[in-house]
Amino acid sequence: MTSERQSLTREDLVHDLRRLGVEPGMTVLVHSSLSSLGWVEGGAETVIDALLEAVGPEGTVLVPTLTGTEEDGPEHPPRFDPATSPCWTGTIPETFRRREAAERSMHPTHSVAGIGNDTRTLIEGHAHVATPCAADSPYGRLADRGGRILLLGVTHESNTCLHMVEEQAHAPYHMQPEPCPCYIKREDGTWEEVVTGLHLWRWDRNFPKIDPLLTAAGAQKTGRVGQAESRLVDVGAMRDLLLPILGDDPLFLLSDEARAEYGSTAPV
Ligand SMILES: CC(C)(COP(=O)(O)OP(=O)(O)OC[C@H]1O[C@@H](n2cnc3c(N)ncnc32)[C@H](O)[C@@H]1OP(=O)(O)O)[C@@H](O)C(=O)NCCC(=O)NCCS
Repeated sequence: MTSERQSLTREDLVHDLRRLGVEPGMTVLVHSSLSSLGWVEGGAETVIDALLEAVGPEGTVLVPTLTGTEEDGPEHPPRFDPATSPCWTGTIPETFRRREAAERSMHPTHSVAGIGNDTRTLIEGHAHVATPCAADSPYGRLADRGGRILLLGVTHESNTCLHMVEEQAHAPYHMQPEPCPCYIKREDGTWEEVVTGLHLWRWDRNFPKIDPLLTAAGAQKTGRVGQAESRLVDVGAMRDLLLPILGDDPLFLLSDEARAEYGSTAPV
């Protein structure tokens, strides 16, 4: 671990975020690994302050606050309380969602939390989308509204918007066959049933294979934030690049092994 003298401050992080291309007014969905940055003075709170400063008062920071599990389905309907359900996407999102200013979308498996101008527009109606990352979910709207994904010390393996691309391309392996009843806790303490499509966790992906394609198309910038290898991705450009590829090859985002197995069990 880096010594205390070399620890990162908010100013260091803002400087590196700007160098990577994060600009005032941007809307950025951040997938992160705190430990990858090197030692940060003040931990996750400092990283969140730096992200908010980098996008400025006109911008918006979103984090994935995912709660879905492999077991979710008709036998194990997900129950989601936006106020208390912890996310499994790391210390930065878990700290972020607890901030007073953060608003969390009402989705039983794929909620996001946001702070900033565009939050309401992005998260509105997430409870009632047909699939978790549909065109009218925060992930699809992010693409339509010129948003970016920031991968802070993580790879495209953590890029939830790739599920948005799979959903828009109707990737045949991606969803459970039938919508499932799920339960969301409302502010008045009652539980609302929503019937919605859930992901099937069965098939292994190779998301990092898109890295060179995005770089070549000018759809992402790479660089370091602290010690973390990071990427800033234009979500709309990524979607527009990948949809025709999945149109030609619906199994494109699967790992080679999954592709071979899926192809032998459920030919496209
Ligand atoms: C799983 C994952 C979160 C693990 O990353 P990580 O850096 O090990 O863990 P966190 O981001 O939760 O940060 C906590 C770690 O930061 C380190 N840490 C603690 N304080 C710190 C500080 N001040 N400065 C730097 N690092 C610190 C510690 O190692 C801590 O681990 P510990 O709690 O076990 O001691 C990350 O690899 C990942 O996958 N992130 C993306 C998740 C995502 O968005 N998924 C979407 C799926 S579709």
